[in-house]
Amino acid sequence: MKVAPSIIAAKFTDFQNEIRHVETAGADLLHLDVMDGVFVPNITFGPMVVDAINELTQLELDAHLMITKPEKYLKQFIDAGLDWVSFHTEATDKTAHCIKYIQDRRVKAGLAINPGTKFETVKEHLEKLDYLLIMTVNPGFYGQKFMSEVLPKIEEAKKWIIEHRLDCLIEVDGGINEVNAKEVCNAGADIVVAGAGIFKAADYARAIEVLRCSKV
Ligand code: DX5
Ligand code: ZN
Repeated sequence: MKVAPSIIAAKFTDFQNEIRHVETAGADLLHLDVMDGVFVPNITFGPMVVDAINELTQLELDAHLMITKPEKYLKQFIDAGLDWVSFHTEATDKTAHCIKYIQDRRVKAGLAINPGTKFETVKEHLEKLDYLLIMTVNPGFYGQKFMSEVLPKIEEAKKWIIEHRLDCLIEVDGGINEVNAKEVCNAGADIVVAGAGIFKAADYARAIEVLRCSKV
């Protein structure tokens, strides 16, 4: 699996070194959690900070927009230098439009779904998507407990993708650590996001290597 450290759990007073640190520790992508205080009960950062982060790293930037009406802000975020961007299907009624806009800008488009949202509701978009982001916590905060009841949804999505020979990757996000990473991988994840599981570990390189775990 690819591993995407989420900088929401990094030491904010030492962003530059934290980013450099995960880069040399073997991260594949840098996950940026954008929260607006409306779609989720927390606020993080916007396009200006993404732009600054883009200057600090060679890593591909993977923004996870937890904002209402993402269609209003996609341009600003993509202009800031993203390689991947996901938005929540629960946050907009313009899902197809957003996917098309992102891909027309030559950025990978992902659709994120909350633990309570059924796979059923996003099936119609899968053929177009570059990735599906399946949340294993209710979005808003890092360091929450992994919801293992979401595992069957990852399996269901993987089965559908294989059966329909689609190119859509599965990214899984929320509470992933060295204890549950193997289950997430076996369920069908291609990319795992980890905040606390990496930035609160003593050895970032080891944490990333363990999370990368291959199928058993
Ligand atoms: C949750 C975010 C996640 C999360 C990752 O709202 O989307 O990316 O904070 O952090 P951990 O791995 O600590 O749950
Ligand atoms: Zn996230």
